[in-house]
Amino acid sequence: MSPDARSVTAKAPGKINVFLRVGALQDDGYHDLATAYQAVSLCEEVRASRADDFSVAFEGPIDTSGLEVDESNIAIKAARLLARTTDYRGGVRLDITKRVPIAGGMGGGSADAAATLVACDALWGTGLSREDLHGLAAQLGADVPFALMGGTAIGTGRGDELSPALAKGSFDWVLVLADHGLSTPVVFRELDRHRERNAAELAPGVGTAPVVDANVLQALRAGDAHLLAETMHNDLQAPALHLAPNLSTILELGERNGALAGIVSGSGPTIAFLTADRNSAISLQIALSAARLDVVRVTAPAHGARTLHD
Ligand code: C5P
Repeated sequence: MSPDARSVTAKAPGKINVFLRVGALQDDGYHDLATAYQAVSLCEEVRASRADDFSVAFEGPIDTSGLEVDESNIAIKAARLLARTTDYRGGVRLDITKRVPIAGGMGGGSADAAATLVACDALWGTGLSREDLHGLAAQLGADVPFALMGGTAIGTGRGDELSPALAKGSFDWVLVLADHGLSTPVVFRELDRHRERNAAELAPGVGTAPVVDANVLQALRAGDAHLLAETMHNDLQAPALHLAPNLSTILELGERNGALAGIVSGSGPTIAFLTADRNSAISLQIALSAARLDVVRVTAPAHGARTLHD
């Protein structure tokens, strides 16, 4: 990167949690969890340009009119955190092309933060290591370290303690985007309420440290979409369906039209359908589009946050 570059562009991927087990609520308000993340080919793109102040603007195929562009925006928080950490005195203008749904359970805001860290790091020539950036990412949100890392990984703790997982080949997914968002804390709270209400009937395992099922790791390692479809699981799915009951109809529709399995992505409301191969994904995309749903076909895994060379 030339030291006097006027701007640097970076991209970072959205994600699907192919497995998500939620454990106990901790004192810090976060839940202990165990998840298998896969980064998808739907990406956010951030252009960071030299400026005296900090600002952000959005463009792209999805409606971004409801997004805050003040200090509460996670991309501004990311840029300010990096500047503070490295004693950088200037600001930055961030232009973000948004493709990952907002409040969709796919880590779109986290991808904005990760791409911002990488773009500003290159623009300002801070020389931070990848580990340093990971530490900053974890301060910004539970999913931000994974948007930085990409690929396929197991997340524990809040979801930010990552270890890469082996994954063979590429998986074909069809995503159904919702016309509304779901708030992540609200979905977690709904799960807690459900657990409180049903404490007597719940299996004794609930409350112990969550782990990712060994069959999920085996399916990823073997590139076996059929096995992955059988073992996918998300503890946040039931509360998300409770809050947005129309999602059940979409899950049924996808499974009737050739999906191997469907799952709510993260805290939803995006639904991710796993298909056997590219042709099945195309057929499913056509069938769901015909039902007037907003559908995107993606492959996974995808690269983590990185700069683009113009
Ligand atoms: O870190 P992030 O901003 O993505 O988290 C949003 C909210 O989701 C948290 O404030 C918390 O309510 C919930 N959350 C949680 N346990 C996690 C991750 C997120 O309860 N492991």
